[in-house]
Formats: sequence, C-alpha cells, structure tokens
Amino acid sequence: MQNKLRVLSSEDGSSTIMCEDLQETYHSVHGAVQESLHVFIKAGLQKFLSLHPQRKQIRILEIGFGTGLNALLSFREAQTAKVSLWYHAIDKYPLPPEILAKLNYGEVLSCEALYSEIKEAAWNRINPVAAHQLFLEKLDLSEFRSSYQYDLIFFDAFSPDKQPALWSPAVFDNLFAHTVPAGILTTYSAKGQVRRNMQAAGFRVERIAGPPGKREMLRATKVDV
Ligand SMILES: C[S@@+](CC[C@H](N)C(=O)[O-])C[C@H]1O[C@@H](n2cnc3c(N)ncnc32)[C@H](O)[C@@H]1O
Repeated sequence: MQNKLRVLSSEDGSSTIMCEDLQETYHSVHGAVQESLHVFIKAGLQKFLSLHPQRKQIRILEIGFGTGLNALLSFREAQTAKVSLWYHAIDKYPLPPEILAKLNYGEVLSCEALYSEIKEAAWNRINPVAAHQLFLEKLDLSEFRSSYQYDLIFFDAFSPDKQPALWSPAVFDNLFAHTVPAGILTTYSAKGQVRRNMQAAGFRVERIAGPPGKREMLRATKVDV
C-alpha cells in the first residue's frame, strides 16, 4: 500500500496523501486539518473533557496513525487543557520518512518541534513526547488487543467502501470491550451499516454535523450503566 503514495494540498492549505492503490486520500480534500480538528478534537477530545472536567489523564486509541496529524492535534490540545495524554496508535502500514518529511502540519499549526518528535517516534515502543506518552504499534486492526481500556477512540481507517472488513461487527465488538464506561469513539463516516455495527456492539450512536464538505459523522458512546 505504501508504494503508490502522493502528497497533495487540501483546500485549507494543509497536506494530505493520496493512496493510489485504493484511490483514496488520508483526509478530506476539503481540508485535512479542518477535518481532524472537527471529527477528533472537537467532537472527541474536547467533548470528553467537557463531560469529565476533573480528568487530568486521558487515554486515547487511534486506529490508523497515518501522518500523525490526529496525534499532533491531540498533544497540542492536551497542553492547552493541561491534561496528560497516553496516546496509543496502531497502523499496519507506517508511512516512510520521505513521505512524512513532505507534510506541512508543523508549519501550518506552528508546532514544528512537536511534529518532529511525533514523526521521529519509534514503532512498537513507548515514546515520551512533550509531557505525554506516544505508543506506536505496527499492527493489523484485526489483531488489536490491549490490557487497557480507552477514554477515546479515534476511528480513522480508510472508508468502509474501500476497506469494509475494518468496519465489521467483530471490530466494533473488540473496540467496545476496550472502551471505558462513558468513553467515546468518533469517526468521519456516517454510513448506516457502520452505525448499525456500532449499535450492535453496544454503543449509543449519534449522527452529528460533519466537517466542511460532509453533512454528518458518527459519535459512539459506551453508555455507563
Ligand atoms: C485514513 S488513513 C489514516 C489517517 C491518519 N489518521 C492521519 O491523520 O494521517 C488510514 C490508515 O489506516 C491504515 N491501515 C490500513 N489497513 C489497516 C489495517 N488492516 N490495520 C491497521 N491499519 C490499517 C493505513 O496505513 C492508513 O495509515
């Protein structure tokens, strides 16, 4: 999958990558940073912190680390909110350094040093990043297991039309088991079958407003019973 990758500029001026084999981009072409901020930071991390203002430590799981943009935005947000972050991201196909070097997120977000730390983080190891921890794991989603449960899950796989197996009931059952009570999962997809698979796993699922260029997205919560 890594052999045919091309770096593009999205409409908000931030980079994204076209995966030629799948004919799919890593982010919305309407704005990569805008999309990540909307789907994962605003609807995910900020929402969780607003519901749990006493929390000083947050554990996030990202499915599909890709460029590290969601990690960068999360570390930046954690610094602002003064919470410490344990960020665990998995990816089956980590991007090569020559592609990462072409991405402009450090410059666009004025955090070059933080993004360099993230891009240089080693795989299959826990890396200290700023005052936080970043655990990158090279892994197929179907093999994901952890002894932890997560406050937030950022579900950022390629689309269900391109990789349906990654959006299956078995995947959401596994992620539900790895979510804390009252934990939140967000994704850019608003597809009906995805929503039903999340509901079958036990999540309460809301359709909420999507990022620029997309009417809706999904937010799933493990309702505390
Ligand atoms: C939409 S991109 C992720 C974008 C990323 N979150 C970012 O901000 O750049 C989807 C990612 O899923 C990864 N991926 C594809 N198949 C996978 C699998 N079976 N298990 C885990 N990751 C997979 C790809 O390598 C790619 O990095």
